[in-house]
Amino acid sequence: MAAFRTILAVSAVLLAAAEANLRAPANTKVPTEAWLTTPELIEFWGYPGETHTVVTEDGYVVDVHRILGRRGQVDKPRRRKTPVLIAHGYGASSECMVLRDNNTLAFMLANEDFDVWLGNTRGNFYGRRHSHLSSADQRFWDFSWHENGVFDMRATIDYMLATTGEASVAVLGHSMGATSLFALLAEMPEYNAKVRAAFLLGPAVYFHSVRGTFNEVRKRAPWSERTLSLIRLENFMTRAPYPRLCFSNLGGGMTINPNCIRVFTDAQGPFFNTNHNTYLPILLRHWPAGTSVGQLAHFMQLIVKGDGFKKFDHGPERNRVLYGTASPPPYNLTNVRSPCFFYYCDNDYQANPKDVRRLAADVPGTAGLFRTPARAFNHLDIMYEEAAGELVYKRLLRDIAKYRN
Ligand SMILES: *[C@@H]1O[C@H](CO)[C@@H](O)[C@H](O)[C@H]1NC(C)=O
Ligand SMILES: *[C@@H]1O[C@H](CO)[C@@H](O)[C@H](O)[C@H]1NC(C)=O
Repeated sequence: MAAFRTILAVSAVLLAAAEANLRAPANTKVPTEAWLTTPELIEFWGYPGETHTVVTEDGYVVDVHRILGRRGQVDKPRRRKTPVLIAHGYGASSECMVLRDNNTLAFMLANEDFDVWLGNTRGNFYGRRHSHLSSADQRFWDFSWHENGVFDMRATIDYMLATTGEASVAVLGHSMGATSLFALLAEMPEYNAKVRAAFLLGPAVYFHSVRGTFNEVRKRAPWSERTLSLIRLENFMTRAPYPRLCFSNLGGGMTINPNCIRVFTDAQGPFFNTNHNTYLPILLRHWPAGTSVGQLAHFMQLIVKGDGFKKFDHGPERNRVLYGTASPPPYNLTNVRSPCFFYYCDNDYQANPKDVRRLAADVPGTAGLFRTPARAFNHLDIMYEEAAGELVYKRLLRDIAKYRN
């Protein structure tokens, strides 16, 4: 169980490091958006939105949030719009995709008349219901990002197609959003026809060259296949301990404890805006939104072995039953044939440029590989930094324009 504790430590350290001197500031000056739900955020920024509920084949019930039009738009759109699914990263939720108005990918797409859907994964705040399992039941939490792709994302895509009458959607994935999409396309190649193009920001798929905290953990922890395969059940990093963690009681409600920032810097790479991070204080009121230990364990299996994109390792006995082999087989990336556009950053410790380039070389669908001109973006900046609007999303909007109706 040493590995179990180490895994918990690695991510829970994001919460725990700053816990010591955290107290709700007496005179809190925290902006409204820090406390809102996704539908409230969409409305707060002046966009029309609605909530849909998707049921997966294995009984999970997940909310999907849709932005219906441009800022201030009230009338129904005249032409058929191109549906776009935005898939969030590890521990996040759809809330994290709409934390500010301008220079936010979701709203930029909405203002360009895309039909924007914000996905959620089972286990997060919007995915805690099930047809017959309670979220208090351990079996509810028996999943990794494999299930997020093969069940949650698949059900969401099918729901979008049924609702819009379109034949295919575009998918945008940050980090684990890309992981899940590739698991889906590799496992169920027929979904390539339903994904007209994919746009992957800091895709977390190959981990040969991971840097920072996770590399240290890889080198030092007493990992074994046995221990990593035991870790599967349990929920993890729910919203419960928030919002007080990471916020210092000195200087008002938006000051983050420096220890907390360092935990993120060590794991994700140095921030683009080191002196005045504009998004982290807000993001940390919404993240983490809840996930399973299995998601992290599956990532750790890939990180520790560093030998490709493979299915969950349940240990030799169960692997033989599930896969017919003692070791987990690789996902067949030859099946990923939808046009894929990759966006990466030099300071990304998790989706290291070398790994993203290697991935792009292995995926037959690769249609674009974009190194962000802000060399100093880290793994979070590419999704959350305001400057990404200018430096990354404008390029992405040009790329996606080729796939609109
Ligand atoms: C966002 O852009 C709109 C329209 O360009 C502008 O009216 C608004 O003030 C901007 N918001 C912020 C916070 O800059
Ligand atoms: C991977 O998929 C391709 C088709 O996309 C197939 O030709 C190949 O045999 C598969 N490889 C394995 C190892 O299953």
